[in-house]
Amino acid sequence: MHNRIMITGAGSGLGREIALRWAREGWRLALADVNESGLRETLDLARAAGGEGFVQRCDVRDYSQLTALAQACTEQFGGIDVVVNNAGVASGGFFAELSLEDWDWQIAVNLMGVVKGCKAFLPLLERSKGRIINVASMAALMQGPGMSNYNVAKAGVLALSESLLVELRQVEVAVHVVCPSFFQTNLLDSFRGPNPAMKAQVGKLLEGSPINAADIADYIHRQVAAGEFLIMPHEAGRQAWELKRQAPERLYQEMAEMAVKMRAKAVSR
Ligand SMILES: NC(=O)c1ccc[n+]([C@@H]2O[C@H](COP(=O)([O-])OP(=O)(O)OC[C@H]3O[C@@H](n4cnc5c(N)ncnc54)[C@H](O)[C@@H]3O)[C@@H](O)[C@H]2O)c1
Repeated sequence: MHNRIMITGAGSGLGREIALRWAREGWRLALADVNESGLRETLDLARAAGGEGFVQRCDVRDYSQLTALAQACTEQFGGIDVVVNNAGVASGGFFAELSLEDWDWQIAVNLMGVVKGCKAFLPLLERSKGRIINVASMAALMQGPGMSNYNVAKAGVLALSESLLVELRQVEVAVHVVCPSFFQTNLLDSFRGPNPAMKAQVGKLLEGSPINAADIADYIHRQVAAGEFLIMPHEAGRQAWELKRQAPERLYQEMAEMAVKMRAKAVSR
């Protein structure tokens, strides 16, 4: 019976809601984050929702902390069935102004954190014939202006997920990738970038979402059960992706116009 799930970034936002959604099915949860108080809150909520499990501090930039987490899953649960690589940070800024340090930080957390999570847990997943759920973003599919380092990290998560989808079929490990548009969480707290005005603009985009993190976790749960690889929880995101596939030039034009508006707003503040 598959009922053991590990989630990174489980101390807040989408990671927390994924924990609660699976807890409602009575799953055992291994909850990881750098935010330990958030983790404890998530575990309390998960217990109230019907789940059980443990928390462990884990920085996804550090491979040894991920292998230690995999070891803890073996000791506490005898293995793992589902691994959710969800931990992530926000960034923004035009390419000309982003520093190489901004790039290194973004790639280290949002891309290499997922690579390391997959690598550390693959031996356990091969044993359980389990599944990987990687949280990317619509930014992986449609590269909006003023966030090139985030776009590249998330496109990397999508490429990794597609690579694993085909490679791991022979060992019966399933793979899913989640591409949400903006939604309200604490993501803005982690924002890093050269221009503070950009942070305010990202904040507005997060606030504008018609669906929240709990809705997204519920959608992921249903799509995973249906065996869907590419999971796009926002209706508007699914439509925009359709437009890009049919007429990419139209989408590039819209994005270019958006870039002009963003530049004007960033300068006028
Ligand atoms: N909120 C959005 O609009 C949005 C849109 C698309 C994709 N996403 C993605 O969803 C995922 C979850 O983000 P969220 O919106 O719930 O934000 P959030 O900030 O509420 O939660 C992210 C969690 O990741 C943790 N984290 C950050 N760096 C870490 C590290 N190095 N090691 C371990 N944990 C770390 C944070 O402490 C936090 O608890 C991220 O990958 C994000 O890129 C978010």
